[in-house]
Amino acid sequence: MRLFHISDLHFQADIPLSRFPRLGWRRLVAQTEYRLLGRRKRFADVPSTVRRLLTEAEAWHADHLLVSGDLTAIALPEEFEEARAALAPWSGRMTIIPGNHDRYTPAAARAQLFEKAFERELQSDVPDSPVDGRFPIVKLVGPELAIVALTSARVPLMPGIAAGWIGKTQLGRLADLLQRPELRERAVFVACHHAPFRASGRPDRKNHGLVDASWLLRVLSDGQVIGLGHGHIHKRYRVDKPGQPPIFCAGSSTELGHRGFFRYEIHGRELSATAVSLEGGA
Ligand SMILES: [Fe+2]
Ligand SMILES: [Fe+2]
Repeated sequence: MRLFHISDLHFQADIPLSRFPRLGWRRLVAQTEYRLLGRRKRFADVPSTVRRLLTEAEAWHADHLLVSGDLTAIALPEEFEEARAALAPWSGRMTIIPGNHDRYTPAAARAQLFEKAFERELQSDVPDSPVDGRFPIVKLVGPELAIVALTSARVPLMPGIAAGWIGKTQLGRLADLLQRPELRERAVFVACHHAPFRASGRPDRKNHGLVDASWLLRVLSDGQVIGLGHGHIHKRYRVDKPGQPPIFCAGSSTELGHRGFFRYEIHGRELSATAVSLEGGA
């Protein structure tokens, strides 16, 4: 079983500043960062990089694609449409979750722009699994693997606050799902957007991290979970802790200087992971 993991694609619309009064103050703050701090340049080649990533996934004969959030920059409808169209070849063999950028404004979250763009992918193979909107979503991949996708993406109080949480109801349902026969007989890979740990192995910053990471880790210490995949931090790394499954950050697959992905080969309950960079280095 071959699982291909990309994250933080950050499709961004090219918007003239004259349109901004109608898009709201949150997006104006973001756009200032994009233009003045060089973020637009770092994400200049997203469409062609995504085409390259998907070519790599096909060439590797991946069975399934995991996209762990932040499809967009400021959750505009045209950004979601670009992301949807780019990922369409993998529709039906893909697990996808939102990131904080996909919930950038209360209006975008209320309008369910993420859900509308990825309606088909948000169907759970265990029909009663969702307890928080569409989540958790279970994808049964072949006879041996189940992916449980959680959401940690919340509308931020203001731009610059990028923390997330999964919440008690989703974590309770995850613990319950791990006991179900259809998951019990499979290896389980869990996905969320926010990071329990930075590359150093230390928790992420309070205003950027996963608020209930310790609760998630408690549930994950169930022996059948073979890995946790996330994004949000734009570097690619792996963290191993005693008593925990390995934790993989796919980084930003499209940001210049960080482009790449993780690939996982799963045999029974054994997972081997390879971080691949498209930048010419390891
Ligand atoms: Fe991101
Ligand atoms: Fe993020």
